[in-house]
Amino acid sequence: MRNTKTSPQIGKKLVDSNQTEQALEDRVQALLAQMTLAEKIGQMCQLNVGDQGVPDEVAQRVRGGTLGSIINVVDVDAVNALQRTAVHDSRLGIPLLVGRDVIHGFKTVMPIPLGQAASWNPDVVREGARIAASEAASHGINWTFAPMVDIARDPRWGRIAESLGEDPMLSSTLGAAMVEGFQGRALAAAGAIAACAKHFVGYGAAESGRDYATTNVPENELHNVHLRPFHAAVDAGVASLMTSFSDIDGVPATANARLVNGVLRDAWGFDGFVVSDWDSIRQLAIHGLTADDRESAYEAAQAGVDMEMQGDAYFEHLHSLVDAGEVALGQVDQAVANILRVKFRLGLFEQATTDTATLRPIADSDARKAAYQVALQGSVLLKNDGGALPLNSNSLKSIAVIGPLADDPYEQMGTWVFDGDAALSVTPLQSLRDAAQGKFDVLYAPGLDSARSRDHGGFEAAVKLAEQADAAVLVIGEDAILSGEAHSRADICLPGAQAELVRRVRGTGKPVIAVVMAGRPLTLGNILDQVDALLYAWHPGTMGGPAIADLLFGVVSPSGKLPVTFPRVVGQIPLYYNHKNTGKPPSDDTIAHIDDIDARAPQTSLGMTAFHLDVHFSPQFPFGFGLSYASFRYSDISVSNPNPAMHEPVVISCQLENTGAVSAEEVAQLYVRDVVGNVTRPVRELKGWQRVRLRPGESTTVEFTLLADDLAFYGRDLKLRTEPGEFHAWIGGSSAAELQTQFCLHA
Ligand code: GLC
Repeated sequence: MRNTKTSPQIGKKLVDSNQTEQALEDRVQALLAQMTLAEKIGQMCQLNVGDQGVPDEVAQRVRGGTLGSIINVVDVDAVNALQRTAVHDSRLGIPLLVGRDVIHGFKTVMPIPLGQAASWNPDVVREGARIAASEAASHGINWTFAPMVDIARDPRWGRIAESLGEDPMLSSTLGAAMVEGFQGRALAAAGAIAACAKHFVGYGAAESGRDYATTNVPENELHNVHLRPFHAAVDAGVASLMTSFSDIDGVPATANARLVNGVLRDAWGFDGFVVSDWDSIRQLAIHGLTADDRESAYEAAQAGVDMEMQGDAYFEHLHSLVDAGEVALGQVDQAVANILRVKFRLGLFEQATTDTATLRPIADSDARKAAYQVALQGSVLLKNDGGALPLNSNSLKSIAVIGPLADDPYEQMGTWVFDGDAALSVTPLQSLRDAAQGKFDVLYAPGLDSARSRDHGGFEAAVKLAEQADAAVLVIGEDAILSGEAHSRADICLPGAQAELVRRVRGTGKPVIAVVMAGRPLTLGNILDQVDALLYAWHPGTMGGPAIADLLFGVVSPSGKLPVTFPRVVGQIPLYYNHKNTGKPPSDDTIAHIDDIDARAPQTSLGMTAFHLDVHFSPQFPFGFGLSYASFRYSDISVSNPNPAMHEPVVISCQLENTGAVSAEEVAQLYVRDVVGNVTRPVRELKGWQRVRLRPGESTTVEFTLLADDLAFYGRDLKLRTEPGEFHAWIGGSSAAELQTQFCLHA
C-alpha cells in the first residue's frame, strides 16, 4: 500500500479496452502464421530515416515488408507516405512503428526529467508526458524512447539530466506517471504513443560517471535499487523497454539473458517488446563478448532482445542462424509476436496514417500551462538568507538582470530537445520585464557571451548595472550541451568565468539572487557565500521564464525538493542519502579537518571512520531538501501500533504547521530504516510523500500507511521478503528529517 495521497496505484495494465487480450492474441498469432521468415526478421529491424529524405534502402525494405520500424522522421507527410507504402504495397500490410526521442517534450519543452522529478508530483509529470505525446502523435510519431528510469547517483554522468534522480521509489512513481501520460488509458486513443522504459538496466552506475562506461552492480543493489523503477514501469503497462549500452557485471545488457528473459519476462511477465539501444547489438563485438556480428545477433536473440535499433546484425544474420538451428524459429516468433502485439494495441492496423486535420495545435494554452506548472513546482530554493526572496515589486526601483542564461531561449530547454522550438521559449529576462510592467526598471547585461566563456570583457558593464540597481538577479549555470548523452563532466563546478562574475557582482554590495540552470547538481561551494538567495531551476524548458519570475516575486512560493544529492566537492561522489551504514560510520564527534592536523601529528587516528580528511562527510544539500517562503514545523510524530504483526498496517503520522507568513506547499516525506536485515539495509529509505498546501498558521495531520510489502527487500537469496524486527521512521522536509519514531514488526 502506498501513502494515501500521492502515489498512483501502480499495477494496472494499460491495454485497449476495446480489445480483449485473447482477441488481441488471436490476431497476433493469425498474422504471424502468414509471415515468411524474411518478413518476421524484418519486423525485428529498425532503421534511421533522418532529415535528408527517405534513404532508398528504407523505402525498398518498407515496400518489401522487411522493415518493421523507422526512427527520426518527424515530417508527418513523409511518415504518412511510408505508412501507406507499408500498408498498401507490402504483402501483408503491416504498419510501421515510428520512433522518436520525445524525452521531455516535443515542440513545447518541459523541464529536463531531473527537474520534473524535483516537483515530486506525478500529476504534473503525467500531464507533461501527455502533452508531449499529443504533439508528437500529430506528427506521425507513435513510439517514444522515454521514460528513462535509470537510477542516477553520479552527477558527473551527463544523462543524470534525463533521469528521475537517485531514489527507487521516486523514480518508480514518476516513471510510471510518464508511462501513463505517454500511453493514456488506451494506446489506440488519439494522442497516445507507446512508451519505452530505458536503459535496462544499471546504466546510471557507469564508472566515474563516464557515459557508456562499465557498470558493476552487486546483485542486491541491482534488485533493491536499479530494477525497481523498471518493474514499476512494467506494472504501469509500458509498451517497450530498451536495453542499455553498458557491460553489466561482465555481460552487456543487450546480451544479458538472465536479466532480459530471466527477470523481465519470466519473473515480471512483461509482454511488450524489448529494443536494443542504437547499434548496441553489433557493439557486443566491441565489448569483446562476441567475435563478429553473427555471434552478436545470436547472443542478443538468445537474451530476448526483440528489435535491433539502427544496426543490421539481425537483418544480415538471423536467417542463417535460424536455418542452422542455432536460433530456434520459436524465438523469432516470440520476438515478432511481442512487436505485433504493441502494433495491434496502438490501433495501427485500423489507422496507420495521421490525419493532419487532427494535428494538435502546438504549444497551445494547455501545453504552456503544463510546462509552466512543472517548471514552477520543480524549481528548488536552496538558499534564502535574510528573506532576500521574494523580491518586492512594489518597493523595487530597479533590478539588474545579469548572466549568460538570462535570455537564451535555446539553452533553457536543456538536453534531448530534437524537436523543441526555441521560438516558443519565454526567457527569465522577458518574464522579469513583464513582471516590471513599468513599476520598476529592468536593466540587463549578459556579463558573459556563454556559460562556458572565460572572457571577462562584459564584466564591467554588468557590474555597473548592479551598482545602479536595487538588486542583482544572476542567471547562470550550464549550457545544454554540457549534459545529456555522452556529455559527462569530471568536474561539476560552474563552467567558464561565471563564479568570477558572481564575485564581481557581489562586490557591489547589492543583494544578489542567483538562478541556476543546469542539467545536473553542480558543486556550488565557490559561490554560495557570494549570494543571498539561490533558486535551482535545472533546465526549465519553454516556460522557464514565467515560472522563475513568479517564484522570484513570490506570486507562488517555491515548493521543489531535490531528487538527487548535491555534493560539496566532486571527490565525494558517489554520495547519496540511502547509503549503507558501514561498520565505521562517520559522525561529527570523530572528525578532524585536514587544516586542524599538526604538521608532525603522530600517526594516530583522527577518527577511524568512513570519511574524507579534507571535506565534511555530509552533502552540500541532501536528497529531498528545498526551502519555501513559508516555514514548516513538524511535530508530534506517532505510530498507530508500536508492535504490529506482519499483516497489520502501520500508520505513521505527525502534525505539520505553516509557521510562516504566506500560504505555501510543502512536500512532507516519510523515511524508514530496517535496522537489521538478511543483507545490510540503507540508513534511510523514502517510503512515501505528500504535497500539502497550508495557509499561515494552519496545521494538519500528515499520515502515511505502511504495509509489510512496503518494507520488503531482496535478501541474499534474491528472494523478496519483509523481516520482523525494529524499524525507525522519520517524517520531515528532507532526507535529513529529525522527527523520529519507531516500531517493531512481529512475524
Ligand atoms: C541513443 C540513446 C537512447 C536513444 C537512442 C535513439 O544512443 O542511448 O537513449 O533513445 O539512441 O536516439
